[in-house]
Amino acid sequence: MTYYKIQGGTPLFGTVTVSGAKNAAVAILPAALLVNGVCRIENVPDISDVRLLLEILADMGAGIRRLSPNTLEIDCTRVHDAEASDALVRRIRASYYLIGAQLGRFGHAKVALPGGCNFGPRPIDQHIKGFLALGAEVTEQSGYVIATAPETGLYGGRVNLDVVSVGATMNIMIGAVLSNGTTIIENAAKEPHIVDLANFLNTMGAKVSGAGTDVIKIRGVKSLHGGFYSIIPDQIEAGTYMAAAAAAGGDVLIQNVIPKHMDCISAKLREMGAKVTEYDDTIRVQRTARLHRANVKTMPYPGFPTDMQPQIAVCMALASGISVVTENIYDTRFRYCAELNRMGASIKVDTKKAVISGVEKLEGCTVHACDLRAGAAMVIAGLAAQGETIVEDIQYIERGYEDLVGKLEGLGASIKRIEKPDHSAAPAAG
Ligand code: EPU
Repeated sequence: MTYYKIQGGTPLFGTVTVSGAKNAAVAILPAALLVNGVCRIENVPDISDVRLLLEILADMGAGIRRLSPNTLEIDCTRVHDAEASDALVRRIRASYYLIGAQLGRFGHAKVALPGGCNFGPRPIDQHIKGFLALGAEVTEQSGYVIATAPETGLYGGRVNLDVVSVGATMNIMIGAVLSNGTTIIENAAKEPHIVDLANFLNTMGAKVSGAGTDVIKIRGVKSLHGGFYSIIPDQIEAGTYMAAAAAAGGDVLIQNVIPKHMDCISAKLREMGAKVTEYDDTIRVQRTARLHRANVKTMPYPGFPTDMQPQIAVCMALASGISVVTENIYDTRFRYCAELNRMGASIKVDTKKAVISGVEKLEGCTVHACDLRAGAAMVIAGLAAQGETIVEDIQYIERGYEDLVGKLEGLGASIKRIEKPDHSAAPAAG
């Protein structure tokens, strides 16, 4: 088993640089399958989810060159109708983007479905609704999604999403780019990574407009060409360091951020008493006095992101007064609260709500990461707590945070990654 050992109770000081956005990268890399030519992509986070996707693409015949730790060249020109490896696909939820990419490129797709995840079932009916609107036939058979375009190719369609879904919006966009016609996605998600995927596709010759609003229009083109693209900074990674500074205290400059993407998180931390100052591409978070209570309701962008819910809950666990967190995106995403309670927090969970009575201090102990963001919350709790915290199951954390330990050490934290090889595979997440 590999775990993090944290000696907490020390404020954080210094500068940390945010990596490229995980949830943009995990869509852009499969979308490179649509491109005839070399895509040079910068600011690719070096995280295990990305490494896995690159392995999947390489296994399908893509040429991949790493020019630097975060710059890649991907050439999918020679990929011919390859199926993605089941064993690899099942290990990452974002492999659902291979359905849109294979369907768009080859006219048919067969992709193994990843299982559920640690915060409940996550259906893909809205993705399928979109592919049907593009004229595809879609069936689910023995754990696979099988999608086939009409002989004349996918055509444009209009799809009104029943739920605002990040994954469905991006998957339909990927599927529609090379279709014969115009596709309209209504009630589309508006997250920054949706705009980033549209910008990537447009750089390679696609015609996508409206990304970032709730109506996206995709005019199909005959082919995409190679090009150069740089992935946006990760909103949630930035928010995680902001929450860490607020919970542990100190003065942290977070660089390589787009402050506009952070508005909701910055506003909440200010409401709780932290000082948040925005510059062009940096944000400074200072916290000297105890935080105050607040309430949070998770919502699709530009609302408060569900992926920041566990991290802000740690700040609330240490704030004065009673805070309420309402989770509106997933049926359950509060399993981590039991772990925080073992550290001395006082949280009562009632299905979609967590009522958090702030305590003066948390005490270090052994906790485990239930999923990626819950794991980040455990690390933040460990940094803020008195004494030693061991965070287990860090394979979840390393799916989405590049060099978390190095970055926190750079802020003066006492955190070590202790390696004991473990060969069991983690269930899909993210
Ligand atoms: N939903 C459906 N049907 C669908 C798709 C979604 O009912 O076909 C529901 C989901 O069950 C959920 C809601 O719609 O209740 C929103 O789900 P969404 O599709 O937006 O989530 P996702 O695309 O599966 C991505 C991120 C998640 C992040 C969510 C919400 C990736 C790979 N994952 O998931 O990221 O929580 O959007 O913003 O982009 C993470 O990074 O830790 C993470 C879990």
